[in-house]
This record gives sequence, C-alpha cells and structure tokens, in this order.
Amino acid sequence: MTLVPKIPWIRVADLSKHVGETVTLRGWVGNRRSSGKIHFIEVRDGSGTVQVVAGKNDVSEEDFAAARTLTQESAVEIVGSVRTDNRSALGVEMGMDSLKIYHIAEPYPITKKEHGVAFLMDNRHLWLRSRRQQAIMRVRSALVRAVRDFFDDGGYYLVDTPILTPAACEGTTTLFELDYFNQSAFLSQSGQLYNEANASAFTRTYCFGPTFRAEKSKTRRHLMEFWMVEPEVAFFDLEDNMNEAEAFISYIVGRILENNLSDLQELERDIEPLKKAIAPFPRVHYDDAIKQLQELGSDIEWGADFGGDDETILTQQYDRPIIVHHFPTAIKAFYMKHDEERPELSCSMDVLAPEGYGEIIGGGERETSIEVLEKAIKEHDLPEDAFHWYLDIRRYGSGPHAGFGMGLERALAWICGLKHVRETIAFPRMLDKLSP
Ligand code: 4AD
Ligand code: MG
Repeated sequence: MTLVPKIPWIRVADLSKHVGETVTLRGWVGNRRSSGKIHFIEVRDGSGTVQVVAGKNDVSEEDFAAARTLTQESAVEIVGSVRTDNRSALGVEMGMDSLKIYHIAEPYPITKKEHGVAFLMDNRHLWLRSRRQQAIMRVRSALVRAVRDFFDDGGYYLVDTPILTPAACEGTTTLFELDYFNQSAFLSQSGQLYNEANASAFTRTYCFGPTFRAEKSKTRRHLMEFWMVEPEVAFFDLEDNMNEAEAFISYIVGRILENNLSDLQELERDIEPLKKAIAPFPRVHYDDAIKQLQELGSDIEWGADFGGDDETILTQQYDRPIIVHHFPTAIKAFYMKHDEERPELSCSMDVLAPEGYGEIIGGGERETSIEVLEKAIKEHDLPEDAFHWYLDIRRYGSGPHAGFGMGLERALAWICGLKHVRETIAFPRMLDKLSP
C-alpha cells in the first residue's frame, strides 16, 4: 500500500514537483528584503527554504503592505506559483498571489551575528530552526530509518526493552537511581540483558531506545541520555558479530550518502572519508592495538582501556572504521564471554570510527557458562537476586549468542562531521545541562 499524506499544503522539499502550479505553502519567515516594488521573502518549513518573490502588481495592496511588516520567524501561509530557478539549491522559487499572516514574531534572539555555544544551548528550542541544525536533524531522522531498515529487512524482530530496571548492565558507576515505590530502580544503561532473553525467544532481535548514563565527566562524546540500537543474535559468535557490525555500518553510511547529500553539503561535510566506510574493516587484536599505540608514543599499558586520545591516534592510522577485538576481561562488563585459550581476554569488540571520532559500537559474544557468570556477578559486586532471571537464559537452551550496541549520536556526529555530540540530539542532556 502506498501512503499518500493528506496535507492541504505543499512542503518546501516537494515544491520542485509542482513547477507551473499554484500551491499553498506554510512556514516561517527567514530573511526578508524589500525594494519599492518587490519583496523577497525566505520561507522555511523544516524540509527546506524557498525564496518567495512578491511583486507589487501580483498581490492585493493590503497583502503587499502586510508583507513589509514580516519579521524573522513570523508564521505565514503563502499561495503562489512555483517556477524554476537554477540559482537556488532547491531548483525553484515561488511567486505570491496572496499572503496570510498567522503571527508577526517578536524580535528574534538568534541573529546573523556569531553567538556563543552557551547562548545557543540556552536557546536550543530556537536554535533548532537554523539551517545547520535542521540539516543535522534531517540526517538523524534518515539515519534512524536506515538503522531500522537494516534490521527489519534482515530477519530481526524489534522487541523493546524496559527503561526502568532493577539492576546495572554496564557497571554501577554511571547509574541514575530513582525511587520505585520504596524500592531502588535505575534508568536503563542498555537493553542488552533483556535482548539476550529476547534472542532466545526470537533468534534475531533488536531494541532501539533511549539509554541513560550518569557520566560524571564533560567530553565531546558523552551524553547522559542517548539513543542506542542494540541487535542480539542467537548462535552468533564474535566473528559473526564483527561481520554483522561492519555490514551494518557500511549500509547506514551508504544510505545517508544516497539520500542526504544536500544536508551533508549544508554541513560542509567532506564525504570522501564516508565513501571509504565499506566492509571489510581492518581488525586489530587488543594486544596489537596496544603495541601500535606504544609505538605511536602513547604511554598506555597492556590491560588499560583506551582513552579518547588513544582512540584518535589509533584510528588515524586507517582510512575507514576499524574493529578492535579481545579487550581484557577485567575492563569489560560482567557478561562478556571469556576467551577459551586466554581467559584474561574477552570475546569483545569495539568499532572505532575514523577522523578522531572513536568508539561508535561496543559489543561481543556473551558468556554461556552459568558458573563463570555467577562468579563474574560476584566479582563486579552486582546484586545476585536481580540476575536470577538472566541466568535462566543459561539454564534453558543456552548457546552461543552475540550482539552489539551503536550509540546513535556518536554515529551521527561522525557522519555529519560534528565536533561535539551536543548538536546530534534535539535537547541534549549533559553534566551541566538539563534545560530546555
Ligand atoms: O560500549 P557500550 O557501553 O556497550 C553496551 O552498552 C552494550 N551493552 C551494547 C550491546 O552489546 N548490546 O555502549 C555502546 C555504545 C558505545 O559504543 C557508544 O556509541 C554509545 O553506546 N555510548 C554513548 N553515547 C553517548 N553518550 C554516552 N555517554 C555513551 N555511552 C555509550
Ligand atoms: Mg564501550
């Protein structure tokens, strides 16, 4: 079934399909210039910006006079004809037959002059109307769709996991705790543990929702609330998981290159590095990554987790994303499978994006031995009661399984070439930022 949206006006992005027709447009005024006989009015609706050219003889005297009063962000409806305009990126401009003004906006705080980030963040609800922020949000929307298509078309079932949870998944240091009828509850850090139960019910599953981490540091890569997509597949091992992760990244980047070039252009994103994000990705064993980092001048020691700088210098050696695998068991979550030959290593993997973006995916094969897991839960100081149900997965039809999580905002920051994740989500939650 094809869906024909019943909207009684035309979106800016669809105007080029209506050349020669008279259409109705609704949106907000950007810039307006007027000479004695002509108004040039930019109108934006989120899908794009079009220039409306209103000549004195085209409209009634009242409408022509009213157009002169339009301030930035005034809300309008314009009826006019669509004409080809090769100078505009959109390919068209509009004439004006009539103007309806919904609202004349007050003087707008965001002007053409440079504003500081703190000011823009305080006005995030308005900042979202600027061209650059709109391009980012359009790519985000397209990225979510590509992510869903990859899994929906790949034999996965979407099975949502809870946001209110009784225990930690990714360690106890970044939990947001709340009172759940006199019992402690935590905002979910990851849907993974539930995903594992779901994979034993449906084989291929994924969840995609908001996740929360009380990250006590300010970095350009961390948010307190971020969206994570997490596939989990029964009978996958680490190798299968790496293959799936690189196929997934190649696919979603390819989709954005196919459909969002004008947005990437608006963001002045150099797309050459994105074009290279094609599987297979180089695979680097943790042992070798440490050697390589030491040779590159890092003072990292075997056993340590990578810092942001380590990820940057390591990934600079490659022209596409890389997969680092077999991190030490001691620095990974309790559920990671221990390598059979070297139990000090885990069957884990991270996908690191190039150009200094670092980790965008974390995942691995899950431990199947109930004894190893029970020990790990104790060693990580986790409440054993809360994991009884989780261990059932190892009691009833236990088998190899693996999965990963991709942070949507990290991936988007890389794809759009942004310096900071704060621009990748409409209303970012950061250490010093809870509003708007
Ligand atoms: O590496 P992480 O912690 O892995 C997990 O949560 C696993 N349970 C996923 C799984 O196997 N199902 O987080 C996964 C990804 C990271 O690679 C990163 O992209 C993103 O989530 N992420 C964050 N993004 C923004 N802000 C934060 N504070 C983030 N923490 C993790
Ligand atoms: Mg990680």
